Amino acid sequence: MKKVFIETYGCQMNVYDTEIVRSVLGKSGFDFTESESEADIVLLNTCSVRENANNKVYSRIHNILNGRKGDGVKIGILGCMATNFRKQLLENPKLPIDFIAGPDSYKRLPQLIDEISGNGVTNGAAPKNFDVTLSEFETYSDVYPAQDGGVNAWLAVMRGCDNFCTFCVVPYTRGRERSRSPENVVDEVKRLAGQGFRQITLLGQNVNSYRYEGHDFADLLEQVSTVEGIERIRFTSPHPKDFPRRLLQVIAENPKVCKQIHLPLQAGNDRVLEMMNRTYTRKEFLDLVDEIRTLYPAMVLSTDIIVGFPTETEAEFEETVQVMETVEFDSAYIFKYSERPQTIAQRKFPDDVPEEEKTRRIVKLNEIQKRHSYHKNLAHVGEIHAVLLEQESTKKSPDDYLGRNDGNKIVIVPKGSYRKGDFVRVQISDATPHVLRGTVVG
Ligand code: SAH
Ligand code: SF4
Ligand code: F3S
Repeated sequence: MKKVFIETYGCQMNVYDTEIVRSVLGKSGFDFTESESEADIVLLNTCSVRENANNKVYSRIHNILNGRKGDGVKIGILGCMATNFRKQLLENPKLPIDFIAGPDSYKRLPQLIDEISGNGVTNGAAPKNFDVTLSEFETYSDVYPAQDGGVNAWLAVMRGCDNFCTFCVVPYTRGRERSRSPENVVDEVKRLAGQGFRQITLLGQNVNSYRYEGHDFADLLEQVSTVEGIERIRFTSPHPKDFPRRLLQVIAENPKVCKQIHLPLQAGNDRVLEMMNRTYTRKEFLDLVDEIRTLYPAMVLSTDIIVGFPTETEAEFEETVQVMETVEFDSAYIFKYSERPQTIAQRKFPDDVPEEEKTRRIVKLNEIQKRHSYHKNLAHVGEIHAVLLEQESTKKSPDDYLGRNDGNKIVIVPKGSYRKGDFVRVQISDATPHVLRGTVVG
């Protein structure tokens, strides 16, 4: 039996896809190993969203082959770099890889591997094998990802993105939006509930633009919430443009849907937002936050922000600061703009904000966010939260349990005699910008 080692980079969709790949290869008789040095086949499931993600993969390929030259190990590149860097990967004679497969081609993997194994090709000697065709239909609705028994199960309900934000490579690497039928999703949720999962996180590059024959994302949430055994439903990653009133009401009112919304702002200035093709203005974004907080004042809000987008001035950057100060997000992922090949921004706009300036801006926003996260977390001290215990022991302490509250914040509690998957009521006694601590009260 051939042994496969897989390493995953990038977002949760890639982590999920790795499980799809394991499921497909497992059915075709492949075995898996946790040790790259004993693998016959090494697969890197790659990300292309920012430049450093790419660089990591290139250095990893060389690192894996160090000391293994000529021993026949096959290296395959999967994921978003496979589609976006197809030409470079295939035509660079110095890059010792054997095959590449894009995010819609994983059912063909056994065949791709079979073909290179048969022809004795090794470590990049031409011809390399590839399939990076993007499909309008592939949703892997008939492949059950190989998820280990746990507390939270991921489930991709839609794939691809049609938004074409000008900075973003995802519409090119993952192709057009397509959704699975609600029946198919509910069937899988039932199966996962039967395996003991208590929380489901619905996934999609643009999850709230889910649409299947007249059913929208609000319908899907409602249908999933009827499945017995599932007690919490989360979703990621949404786009601010797809939050109709009814969806906000379902999130606010359905007891199983967690009170947490990721709302990627990207920038706080209208000219920059328009250049980004985000399709909302600063005012529309702030109005959406108001609408959410009117429906559910304690909704936990997180965001993504890019600093140093082409031509962003200091005054425009300050508008992002103002939106952060107005909203006070619970948490934020803040990135420096990174020019990506093929994107509209790369073709039309100069990457003209100097690196030191990007650094200054990101440091400033991270400081603001740290203050806000701490302030928001401190406000929870004294409250009682329902916490789902997810992980026995934390890195820092073997005597603690790590769980999450409804708002997706990490809550640490002393171990006691609880088990993974238990729901407990925790009185919050302490907070840092990143975690809450407390004791179980029932
Ligand atoms: N589909 C999701 C996530 C996309 S990638 C969404 O729309 O929210 C996650 C985040 O990476 C984005 O929200 C954006 O903030 C950041 N990002 C994407 N492309 C980038 C680029 N070229 N440079 C810097 N950050 C980028
Ligand atoms: Fe990229 Fe925009 Fe699509 Fe998100 S919505 S994946 S940022 S193009
Ligand atoms: Fe990266 Fe592709 Fe996800 S570019 S962030 S792995 S969709």
